Amino acid sequence: MKHLLSTQDLSKDEAVTVLDTAAQMAATQSREIKKLPTLRGRTVVNLFFEDSTRTRISFETAAKRLSADVINFSAKGSSVSKGESLKDTALTLHAMGADAVVVRHWASGAPHQLAYSGWLGGGDDHVAVLNAGDGTHQHPTQALLDAFTMRRHLVGRVGGAPDDGVGSDLAGVKVAIVGDVLHSRVARSNVHLLRTLGADVELVAPPTLLPVGVETWPCTTSYDLDETLARRQPDAVMMLRVQRERMSGGAGAFFPSPLEYTRRYGLDARRLAMLPSHSIVMHPGPMNRGLEISAEAADSPGSVIVEQVANGVAVRMAALYLLLAGTSAEGSVQ
Ligand code: CP
Repeated sequence: MKHLLSTQDLSKDEAVTVLDTAAQMAATQSREIKKLPTLRGRTVVNLFFEDSTRTRISFETAAKRLSADVINFSAKGSSVSKGESLKDTALTLHAMGADAVVVRHWASGAPHQLAYSGWLGGGDDHVAVLNAGDGTHQHPTQALLDAFTMRRHLVGRVGGAPDDGVGSDLAGVKVAIVGDVLHSRVARSNVHLLRTLGADVELVAPPTLLPVGVETWPCTTSYDLDETLARRQPDAVMMLRVQRERMSGGAGAFFPSPLEYTRRYGLDARRLAMLPSHSIVMHPGPMNRGLEISAEAADSPGSVIVEQVANGVAVRMAALYLLLAGTSAEGSVQ
């Protein structure tokens, strides 16, 4: 891998390698050897044109635990607010010796543009680009941490593989992804990665929050959450944030109304009781508690939402390691 831009670029072997490497990284963290020397002398730039809590902090933590130098760049407070282009920003970062750029951008395709424009060098001199979320397009490390979390909880129960899941895919795992699919880069990334790993995915959403062309995605779709829960008995239910800020007509202008949405698509105690006892409840965050998920569901024993955040660090350590450590890194993962 030269870059991590989309889960659609990952083969099954590559995806399993990232998950297995993340398992090794997680093991080093649980052994309290918090810092590895692997990326000493390398520079990782976090280039964020959109707000983030989890992804930005997680990438920063991951890079620091691999001993990389980290530069945090936020569009707010930078020369971007004076009109500087993505190209000139990239040329500046390259001139400063960045080895990897983690980019979140409101424009779908911006990470691809950075990776292949030549603005960040090329050939042996190339800077690795990691997509931290672009528009409504992709958020590959989120999908990888979601798959990592599913593997830890479900493989062995559902698929008959070893308890820690190392080396295994997600064959036989049934996943329901529920809510605002239209605006969700998390849903897009997950559908493709989970399918690559052999899971069986159903999207559940009101027709107004499903994208045009969803019938070509490698999954099934439903408009009825109660029916999906009863029929499929999913092993994992992933609730999506309603992205009111991306809806035209201003915040709050979406159909169905918030009250109707919660009634038909919210995960609450009644729907929680419809799930098999081993099922896990997931959400990429940030949550709209009381809209797509009740506090009771978010804080239930089956909820792995906080664990998803913790797993994100191991997965991002793995991604940085695999992209950067092949050249001149010191040390290795024990
Ligand atoms: N899941 C996720 O991308 O969260 P942040 O927007 O806080 O990074």
